[in-house]
Amino acid sequence: MDDATRLAILARRAADEVADGMILGLGSGSTAEAFVRELGARVRSGLRVRGVATSDRTARLAQELGIPLLPLDDVSAIDLGIDGADEIAPSLDVVKGRGGALLHEKLVALACDRYLIVAAAEKLVTLLGTRMPLPVEVVPFGWHLTAARLPALGLDPTLRLTNAQSDDPAPFVSDGGHYVLDCATDPITDPAALARDLKATPGVVDHGLFIGFADRVLVVDAAGEPRIMDREPHRAS
Ligand code: A5P
Repeated sequence: MDDATRLAILARRAADEVADGMILGLGSGSTAEAFVRELGARVRSGLRVRGVATSDRTARLAQELGIPLLPLDDVSAIDLGIDGADEIAPSLDVVKGRGGALLHEKLVALACDRYLIVAAAEKLVTLLGTRMPLPVEVVPFGWHLTAARLPALGLDPTLRLTNAQSDDPAPFVSDGGHYVLDCATDPITDPAALARDLKATPGVVDHGLFIGFADRVLVVDAAGEPRIMDREPHRAS
C-alpha cells in the first residue's frame, strides 16, 4: 500500500478521537498534515473545532481548509494534540523535529490535556537515537560555540542547511528564528538525562526529545492496519 493511502487511514483513525467543540493542537510534518486535511473535511461536514498550529506551514494549510485557528497565547488549555514523530520508543517517548518545528511543537504539546502521536510503523524503534540524528534547536548567536558543547553529551552536531546540494546553501531557520543542529548519537539509553543536559546547555533553545508527552501512539503498518499503543498508567509506588 502506498504511503499516502496509509497516512490517510491513520488520519481518519486519529480524527475519530476528535469531539465536537474541542481545541486541538495541530502538528507539523507529512503525517500531521494528513490529519489536518482529514480534519478539514470533517469541518466542512459540520464538525466545530478550533486549532492551535505548531508551525507557519500547518497554519497556512489549516486556513486553506477552513479550520479556525487560535494563537497559543489565547488558550489556557488544549483538549487534544495530534502530531507526528520521527522515532517512537516502546515507552512512547519520541524524537521529533525532522521538519524543524520542534520548539513550537513542544510548546503546544505542553499545553495539551491529551497528546496523540500518529506515525507509520517504521518509526517504531527499540532505542531512540537509532533511526536518525537528534535535532537540537539553538540560537544563531554563537552557534559554533553551542555546537562545540554537544560532543561532551555524546552528540556529533551538523548544522541543518536549506538547499544543501546547491552552490549557495544557507542555514535552515526555524519559525522561531533559530538554527537546528542535527546530532548523530549512539543509541540513547537515558533520554531523560540527555534531555536535562541539553536544556542546561547555554545556546540550546530546545531539542527533539519528547519524554513523557504521548498518552497514545497510533501507528499504521505496511498493509494499512492501524494499531494503538497507550502509555501505561502511572502507578504510585
Ligand atoms: C516536525 O518538526 C516534526 O516533528 C514532524 O512531526 C516529524 O518530523 C514527523 O514528520 P513526518 O510526519 O513528515 O514524518
